[in-house]
Amino acid sequence: MKIGILISGRGSNMIAIVEAVQSGFIPGSDVAVVISDKTSAEGLIKAKERGIETFVITRKGRTREEHDAEIISELKKRNVDLICLAGYMRLLSKEFVCAFPNRIVNIHPSLLPSFKGLDAQQQAIDYGVKVSGCTVHFVDEALDHGAIIAQKTVEVKDGDTAESLAARILEHEHALYTEAIKRIAEGKIEIVGRRVVSANN
Ligand code: GRF
Repeated sequence: MKIGILISGRGSNMIAIVEAVQSGFIPGSDVAVVISDKTSAEGLIKAKERGIETFVITRKGRTREEHDAEIISELKKRNVDLICLAGYMRLLSKEFVCAFPNRIVNIHPSLLPSFKGLDAQQQAIDYGVKVSGCTVHFVDEALDHGAIIAQKTVEVKDGDTAESLAARILEHEHALYTEAIKRIAEGKIEIVGRRVVSANN
């Protein structure tokens, strides 16, 4: 399975995926390319250090569709089977989602459908929930909306700030995301309506 990873920043989830592939935890896979929409993304250097091809495709005042078309073309050139969004801060166009049906996944730092969008950890603190967490899901055209593959709960502690909660959730994101990708690579899940279930194989 050829994996393409899209980032916009730090890239810790991207590195977790790269290391899971390189160590053999995710079998029969390789990371074909890491694409960033930001020249300044710290993750680009980390990916290069690990021998991964990187690409920067900035928006450059183009429409979402034009920008996405260029990314789609680079992914298709490399025969990418699965696209992992890892801190990629842009909503995908309909064309992007349709070009890779059920082949785009994302991780979000809340228990979806709660706290979609930006600053999910701050939203959790502000709401006063006692439990939050992270979610790996397929990507559709709506924000943080596609079928849920896996979730992990994380306690919200009394003294938590958005930063301390984000750090504790992040500790679980890497394991949850790489385990979910492993299950996809092994053909162990299937989508039934909105539900992602274990495949009968
Ligand atoms: C993570 O919290 C992820 O859940 C969210 O954006 C953050 C990206 O962090 N989508 P990193 O770039 O993977 O370190």
